[in-house]
Amino acid sequence: MASSVNFWTIPQPKPQSSYSYSSSLKPPLTSQLSLFPNSNNSTLSLRSHTALSRSRLTKYHSPNAPPPHFMVMASTKNPEEALKIMISGAPASGKGTQCELITQKYGLVHVAAGDLLRAEVAAGSDNGRQAKEFMEKGQLVPDEIVVMMVKERLSQPDSEENGWLLDGYPRSLSQATALKKFGFEPDLFILLEVPEDILVERVIGRRLDPVTGKIYHLKYSPPETEEIAARLTQRFDDTEEKVKLRLRTHHQNVEAVLSMFKDITVKIDGNGSKEDVFAQIDGWLTKLLEQRKATSESLAA
Ligand code: AP5
Repeated sequence: MASSVNFWTIPQPKPQSSYSYSSSLKPPLTSQLSLFPNSNNSTLSLRSHTALSRSRLTKYHSPNAPPPHFMVMASTKNPEEALKIMISGAPASGKGTQCELITQKYGLVHVAAGDLLRAEVAAGSDNGRQAKEFMEKGQLVPDEIVVMMVKERLSQPDSEENGWLLDGYPRSLSQATALKKFGFEPDLFILLEVPEDILVERVIGRRLDPVTGKIYHLKYSPPETEEIAARLTQRFDDTEEKVKLRLRTHHQNVEAVLSMFKDITVKIDGNGSKEDVFAQIDGWLTKLLEQRKATSESLAA
């Protein structure tokens, strides 16, 4: 049986500060919605994921937020199906930081193209040696290396079962096209927006804990102990000079990628505290799951 609807008007789950909407999501919006057939189970795909839990969440409240109503493009998928989310944004916009928080709550498998590439670099593989040349110049690593790497990771059983959170991929039209060709259909495309001067400051102060993988910032998110501080490392491409090259690459490609996902894009103001930014993302994800459940229940009724 084919379907009816594809967008819902829903109340914002909690007060939010500064959303911006992709054009296709701006209220008021009317559309048609496809409902999936044979779905009478309202189980949500929320799972706990302790292995990736690294930081505690704080509740977010914005007393001055407008009474929000917004439209979310609803998933037409079975509500039991795991979430598939993409997160994008300029270098140091906070993708990795938000991925820690998202995986902690939603149990998705975090697949970061940059991490996969750095693992190859660290392993000294042929792919890693080639990739490093491009990464040092702030350029995109060629598709021949990246595309299959990401495809293989998304095809692993844990990604299929738990859902995935794709970080920093696709970054070009050709990567977006390949993703679609392989049948990977995201539910939501999150774009973090942060002013450029803030991005440079974030890059320069970023440090990584090689033991836990946690991301720190010397000013905004300093290490908890002297012991951790002593072992922190800095990425080879985290210099002011290289971040400017990376930013240029981002600006050259972002619009083309957005054009492929405009119906499911949400633009998030990434220039708040990490808890504030997460509250915005969490609102969208919560509503996406609620809408799947509502759709399922209305079909079952
Ligand atoms: P990648 O590793 O993906 O780097 P990037 O996109 O430049 O993004 P970053 O990892 O630098 O930043 P982030 O947004 O994750 O920010 P984070 O949370 O760490 O890619 C590296 C390279 O690999 C590319 O240049 C390219 O060469 C290659 N590559 C990757 N993907 C590719 C692809 N698909 N195709 C081809 N090549 C590819 O935060 C940054 C800092 O800010 C941290 O210190 C953090 O503590 C701090 N911070 C975060 N949020 C906040 C906040 N709200 N307030 C204050 N501080 C914050």
